[in-house]
Amino acid sequence: MAEERGLAMVTCTAPVNIAVIKYWGKRDNDLILPINSSLSVTLHQDQLKTTTTAAASRDFAEDRLWLNGEEADVGHPRLQACLREVRRLARKRRGGGDEDAAPLSLSYKIHVATENNFPTAAGLASSAAGYACLVSALARLYGVEGELSEVARRGSGSACRSMLGGFVQWQRGERPDGRDSLAHQVAPETHWPELRVLVLVVSGEKKQVGSTAGMQTSVDTSPLLKHRAEAVVPERLALMMRHIRERDFEGFGQLAMRDSNQFHATCLDTFPPIFYLNDLSRHIIALAHRFNAHHGRTKVAYTFDAGPNAVIFTLADTVAEFVEVVRRSFPPAANGDQFVRGLPVGSASLPEELLAAVVTEPVPGAVRYILHTKPGPGPQLVDDPSQHLLGADGLPRRRA
Ligand code: DP6
Repeated sequence: MAEERGLAMVTCTAPVNIAVIKYWGKRDNDLILPINSSLSVTLHQDQLKTTTTAAASRDFAEDRLWLNGEEADVGHPRLQACLREVRRLARKRRGGGDEDAAPLSLSYKIHVATENNFPTAAGLASSAAGYACLVSALARLYGVEGELSEVARRGSGSACRSMLGGFVQWQRGERPDGRDSLAHQVAPETHWPELRVLVLVVSGEKKQVGSTAGMQTSVDTSPLLKHRAEAVVPERLALMMRHIRERDFEGFGQLAMRDSNQFHATCLDTFPPIFYLNDLSRHIIALAHRFNAHHGRTKVAYTFDAGPNAVIFTLADTVAEFVEVVRRSFPPAANGDQFVRGLPVGSASLPEELLAAVVTEPVPGAVRYILHTKPGPGPQLVDDPSQHLLGADGLPRRRA
């Protein structure tokens, strides 16, 4: 942490995660306690990450926040809950001792700047990475260590899973105070080196119903969601952990697809219904099933969150072929934009039988681009002070 003239500054990065057993529904809206446990894969920060700089100074007159360079409302209740919780842990850690003796006064105002390395408009879950990053940076700033998923959870439920790398379970917990509703690592990112992730960023409108409001209506109205939380998820969670432990792609992929489909079924069972999948999402689902049927086994698995972008899990040896199938199925508009981004993808020529069986009705321009990534680590501290998003004056640095 840089600390000079009463100014302390920390920068952290944090990852996006994608659930393979979905979280949908809260039993406590304020504490953000879920009705079921969930399980996700943390994606690599080389492709998708949030960077956050947090600074505290006795010279700051008020708390301030900048999102992607634009000043934003620092009074957001969830942001305030995270700030309050980190400060509470810091106070506890200092054992209620003399605050002036502590490295940083808890009464100083803070400045926070945060940026994503991916376009917010792409509709990729950014609140999970955002709150995980905020909590990581604040904790470092105040010298708080240890269990922080509980704090990130107060920002956004799924954010608690972005506090760890690899394969992560968010345990529902039983206690009304939420102290046992925490994220745990099931396996590190190195556990399954062949696993790859393709994010298919689709063209079109922004999502209509946010997750927070959507899941509340589902809890209030969907009998299927109640059944899912009570009877389906506990069994699936145990099964999914076994598939991950055994690196069984067939089992992992099948269950990921079924769980995504059931989540979207609970959305349809919500009243009034919520539609996150659109015609294109359904087109991608059918394409994945045709591809797997052609190969006679599960080679790709899709999952969708509260929006139409598809996330595809596959193994390294299938990436080039499937990317070519997507390119043929959704021929990109020739506007010079890079269609395949992220990790390199080799070239593949498709056998005629595969083309005939899988690429049936091409929809030009429907997929904007494909991002190729893989599982990655949890939040990181950025050591290089030139990477701070705030300058020595505590204001956003002008970007090059
Ligand atoms: C469909 O974590 O965004 O992505 O807790 O209200 O902030 P809040 O909701 P959020 O919900 C994520 C829902 C999901 C499934 C998942 O990530 O498990």
